[in-house]
Amino acid sequence: MLPGKTKVLLTREQIRKKVKHLAADIARDYEGKKPLLICVLKGAVVFLSDLMRNLSISVEIDFMAVSSYGSSTASSGVVRILKDLEASIEQKDVIIIEDIVDTGLTLSYLRENLLSRNPGSLKIASLLDKPERRVADVEPDYCGFRIPDEFVVGYGLDYDEKYRNLPDLCILLEFGK
Ligand code: IMP
Ligand code: MG
Repeated sequence: MLPGKTKVLLTREQIRKKVKHLAADIARDYEGKKPLLICVLKGAVVFLSDLMRNLSISVEIDFMAVSSYGSSTASSGVVRILKDLEASIEQKDVIIIEDIVDTGLTLSYLRENLLSRNPGSLKIASLLDKPERRVADVEPDYCGFRIPDEFVVGYGLDYDEKYRNLPDLCILLEFGK
């Protein structure tokens, strides 16, 4: 049994349709190329797996894990790389795959870090965007849904490592243990 009450914000069907549209946009923009999708662990893993299966172009994938110091519901902007990429991204067309852009601090650190490795191009795809909370100057190039300032879980997103397995995206109403 999962702790805490949740309320569905986006159903699996709404997400499925949106991911299909995002994949079509990306396939159109990268026609004839083979972009490298860099999945930011762990939250974006469900989005990556659905997105890549909807892409009609060749892609490569790699993974990075970062942790921002701070509490589990607030980002501090100080980012530590827990797992780095397997290979060089030099001259590659890179797309960062994120679950959610909140303050933008994590993504702005990641973007600078990856740009310093000289990719051919660098774009950002995020399933969710919480623009109200933005601190850093960073916007996703591909965005699934703009959502209100609520803490959401499911479809890969967690609270304290729980709820990632929920198939719908839900608002967490109680932050119980
Ligand atoms: P930012 O640095 O504030 O943009 O935070 C980005 C990261 O914080 C995301 O990649 C998520 O891992 C986490 N995060 C931000 N908002 C939420 C949320 O509502 N639910 C779950 N995780 C979140
Ligand atoms: Mg994340």
